[in-house]
Amino acid sequence: MTVKIGFIGTGRMASAMIGGILSDGLYVKEEIIGCAPSENTRSRISSEFGIKMYKTAAEVAKLTDFLVLGIKPVQVKPLFTEEGLELGAKHLVLSIVAGVKIATLMGYVPDAKIVRVMPNHCCLVGEGAAGYSGGPGVTDNDLMKVKSVLNSSGLAVEVDEEDLDAVTGLSGSSPAFMYMILDAMADAGEMYGISRDKSLKLAAQSMLGAAKMVLSTDRTPDELVDNVCSPGGTTIEGVRVLREAGLKNIMIDAIKASIERSIEMSEE
Ligand SMILES: NC(=O)c1ccc[n+]([C@@H]2O[C@H](COP(=O)([O-])OP(=O)(O)OC[C@H]3O[C@@H](n4cnc5c(N)ncnc54)[C@H](OP(=O)(O)O)[C@@H]3O)[C@@H](O)[C@H]2O)c1
Repeated sequence: MTVKIGFIGTGRMASAMIGGILSDGLYVKEEIIGCAPSENTRSRISSEFGIKMYKTAAEVAKLTDFLVLGIKPVQVKPLFTEEGLELGAKHLVLSIVAGVKIATLMGYVPDAKIVRVMPNHCCLVGEGAAGYSGGPGVTDNDLMKVKSVLNSSGLAVEVDEEDLDAVTGLSGSSPAFMYMILDAMADAGEMYGISRDKSLKLAAQSMLGAAKMVLSTDRTPDELVDNVCSPGGTTIEGVRVLREAGLKNIMIDAIKASIERSIEMSEE
């Protein structure tokens, strides 16, 4: 069977993507390969997913033209300068390496086609949100392949590369902000006698349901707020408190701070 996709690095994010591809049925296990330097990771990934694992990226790049670069930013340079990984015009590279620009990767492999992706860690549960951007030479067909892979563990939108810093703040970092909101909601539930476990479940399901309402209806968040509120009712009281406390500006400031840090880091 032809190998369809190869993972260079099979850590947390790549594993989540492999799991998504398999459960979505995009590729079967014989069509996926990966590599990791440590024997421990290779045997763990082989037994978890049943895919064939190799020690080096060069072995993977020989067997498939579609590669996922899932290593840490500091591991990128040695991959090309010390291990001497060479990629040609036939290679399509989906890079999830945070902060490493398409131009930087093309400095190492000028002929390869690069698609830079900013995923988020919710891809671990098949609900990731990713922004992606294709570099020079990337075709519509290449972008379709990338989108299919990303969609198997969540939702993906195409953006300009310069917007990936904004994606980093908006969807890369924001799960942490949502966890903070959920934690506060659970605190409130507990104050009124519901156990932490049950409070957290109710809060998390409410957030999930609200997100689904936004994604699956054509109503704006403002319209949906109005839908839940009735004059003199319970929700409007809570909405008043959030508006008076400046929730909107707090969220914008949090996301802006993450975006600014992402811009700073990609310039370092
Ligand atoms: N975690 C997030 O929420 C998140 C969100 C967005 C983007 N990202 C980006 O996603 C990338 C991966 O993150 P992660 O959390 O999945 O990292 P991770 O768990 O540390 O995984 C890194 C993987 O790379 C492998 N590796 C290291 N050097 C290698 C080499 N020379 N050749 C082949 N494989 C090599 C490691 O193998 P061993 O196990 O053998 O050491 C490991 O499997 C990072 O660049 C990160 O910035 C992460």
